[in-house]
Amino acid sequence: MKVQGKQMRTVWAEAPGGADGGGLTVRMIDQQLLPHEFKIADMATHRHTADAIRRMTIRGAPAIGAAGAYGLAQAFAEAPGGEQNAPYIDAAYELLRQTRPTAYDLFYNLDRVRAAAAGSPEQDRAARALAEADRLADESADRCRRIGLSGLPLFEAGMHVMTHCNAGWLATVDWGTALSPIYQAHRHGKAPVVLADETRPRLQGANLTAWELAQEGVECEIIADNASGLLMRRGEIQMVITGADRVAANGDAANKIGTYEKAVLAREHNIPFYVAAPFSTFDLNCPDGDSIPIEERDPDEVLYAQGKTDDGRIERVRLAPEGARARNPAFDVTPAALLAGLITEHGIIEPNAEAIARAFASEAAPAPTN
Ligand code: MRU
Repeated sequence: MKVQGKQMRTVWAEAPGGADGGGLTVRMIDQQLLPHEFKIADMATHRHTADAIRRMTIRGAPAIGAAGAYGLAQAFAEAPGGEQNAPYIDAAYELLRQTRPTAYDLFYNLDRVRAAAAGSPEQDRAARALAEADRLADESADRCRRIGLSGLPLFEAGMHVMTHCNAGWLATVDWGTALSPIYQAHRHGKAPVVLADETRPRLQGANLTAWELAQEGVECEIIADNASGLLMRRGEIQMVITGADRVAANGDAANKIGTYEKAVLAREHNIPFYVAAPFSTFDLNCPDGDSIPIEERDPDEVLYAQGKTDDGRIERVRLAPEGARARNPAFDVTPAALLAGLITEHGIIEPNAEAIARAFASEAAPAPTN
C-alpha cells in the first residue's frame, strides 16, 4: 500500500531499546483521524493496544487480528517473571479477546501467538511471541495479495464496482480483501470505477475507502448508503465486492451492517455479489451465520457524527434530537445463497459447506503466484 507514494503497512511493532530492550511499542495508522489527518499512533502496552482495537483506532478483521497478535506479544514482553507470568499472559489474552466479538481473525491470531510461545523457556517466550506476530502479519499481507489475483479475472476495464465499508489495506496489514482485486485490476490495465457506500454510522466508506483509493489513484465515487437501489436498477453497477468479518462453515458471511441489504438488492437486479476473505476469517466451528456473534456498539455512534469544519477543526456534532434513543448493531449476516462466490487466497470458492470443507482440506489448492 502507498501513502503519499510511500510503501507502508497498517500496523507493526517496534522495540525501542532493540530486541532486548524490554518494551514493545505497537504502531498503527490512526483510522479515527482519517481522512482529515494522517498520523501514526503508538501503543506503549498491551492495554493501550486493546483499547485502540475497541475504539477503532485500528479496525477491519485482518488488521484487528494483526493488532491483537502484536498486543499479545507486548504482554509477553511486559510480563513479570515466575509465578505471576502465566496469570499476566492469561489476563492479557482475555482482555484482547474481549475487544471486538465478530472479527474472527482476532481469535485466530491470539491462539497462534499463545501456541507459539507455549512450551518454551520463560526467557524465550517474548521473542517467540513477537516472531509469530510478525509471521502472522507477513502471512496476512500475502493472503490478501493473493485474494487480489484470485479476483482479477472477474474484471473488465471500466467496470463500475460497488463496495461497502472499508475492506482495503487499512482494514488489513496490506492490500485489503475486497479492494485487493480492485488494485490488481488497476495495475493490470482493467481499471474499474469504485462506488463506495458511505457506510453509516462510522463512515468507513466515505472516510477510509475513498481516501485509500485516492492514494492508489483508483477512481472512486462515494454514494449515500441508500443510493445503490437506484443505481443498480439503472444498470450503473456491474459487480459488488465486500469483505467479511467472519465466514461460517456454510459460507454465510458476517460483514459491516448494511451488507445484507446490498446483497438482497444485487440478487434482485442479477448483479454478482462476491465476498472476499482470507482463510483466517473463516470460522469452521460456526456452522452458519446465526451462530456468529454480532457486536452492538455505543448508540452515540448513530446519534453523533465527526467531521472537519471549513476552518480546519475536527469536530463532533449531535445529529438527533436530545433524548432520542438509537440501536447500533455493527454487523449483519449475508446468507451464502446470495453470494456469487467467496474470493480467497486459494481461488474463488463456491459458497457452500462442501466446497469450503474441500478447500480447507486441500492446502494443495493451486494458489495464484505472480
Ligand atoms: O467495524 P469495522 O470497521 O471493523 O468493520 C470492518 C468491516 O466490516 C470490513 O468489511 C471487514 O472487516 C473486512 S476487512 C478486510
